[in-house]
Amino acid sequence: MNAVTPEQITRSALASFAGAPDERTREVSQAIVKHLHAFVAEVDPSPEEWMGALEFLTRVGQKCTPARQEFILLSDVLGVSMLVDTLQQPGDDGVTESTVLGPFYVEEPPVAEQGANIARGEDGIPLWIDVQVTDNAGDPLPGAVVDIWEGGADGLYDVQRDLPDGEYDLRGRFRADGEGRVKCWAVVPVSYQVPADGPVGDLLAATGRHPWRPGHVHFKIAAEGFAPLVTHLFPSGDPYLESDAVFGVKPSLVIDLAEHGTGEAPEGRQMDRTWKSLSYTFALSRA
Ligand code: BEZ
Ligand code: FE
Repeated sequence: MNAVTPEQITRSALASFAGAPDERTREVSQAIVKHLHAFVAEVDPSPEEWMGALEFLTRVGQKCTPARQEFILLSDVLGVSMLVDTLQQPGDDGVTESTVLGPFYVEEPPVAEQGANIARGEDGIPLWIDVQVTDNAGDPLPGAVVDIWEGGADGLYDVQRDLPDGEYDLRGRFRADGEGRVKCWAVVPVSYQVPADGPVGDLLAATGRHPWRPGHVHFKIAAEGFAPLVTHLFPSGDPYLESDAVFGVKPSLVIDLAEHGTGEAPEGRQMDRTWKSLSYTFALSRA
């Protein structure tokens, strides 16, 4: 009897999926076999190495809880989340670029009034956010729903802190006014580390990579008749803009913040310290 070759094993595995009744299921399962077999043929792992890989994936699964999704983090640090996001980008002229949602989004964030301060008792430099939502011809989209969230001056999101159930900080859901604008007070975001105390952190350490993301404010924008936009804005000057651990930075999303002195500030605030402001127009693509 002839020895079975690696190519024959790959062909047999491919053929075993050829009868999948759903065309997309067939396409995807055969692509997994094709690329995974090519990967194994290239890397040629010892049985111990392959078991190590399976144990790593097991630890990734075991680290997952309702508040911690280690598989998403693995996809993020491998650049796959950004690849999926960028392949989906509509590519219409003038449409704002998207980036990763990240693990700290809350589905139904607290509803906030125009001009509200979403940073309750936070340290950090006050940041006035003034954004407009338009279509890609520049016409405003009144009534757009704009979710805004960010980490605090300590680099932590509210969901990473021990807040009582149902209490949030540094996030809010706004409805754009008649000009498509949303304004609120927040804090200047700072660089922070992705959760690095699990197997994904071990992977970063073993490969000499750092876990830092440049500071950013997250936005998720929905308007009827338009494709939802999930993106961030990154203040310029951050040391990690060129080496974001999850590859989320796009040059069109890096902005300069304006600096302001003490005295009167928006919404009647009297400032005894300097503050900053951010202004940006988000252009959505028709659905
Ligand atoms: C974030 O921006 O919140 C984030 C994105 C990917 C991984 C970790 C954090
Ligand atoms: Fe973030």
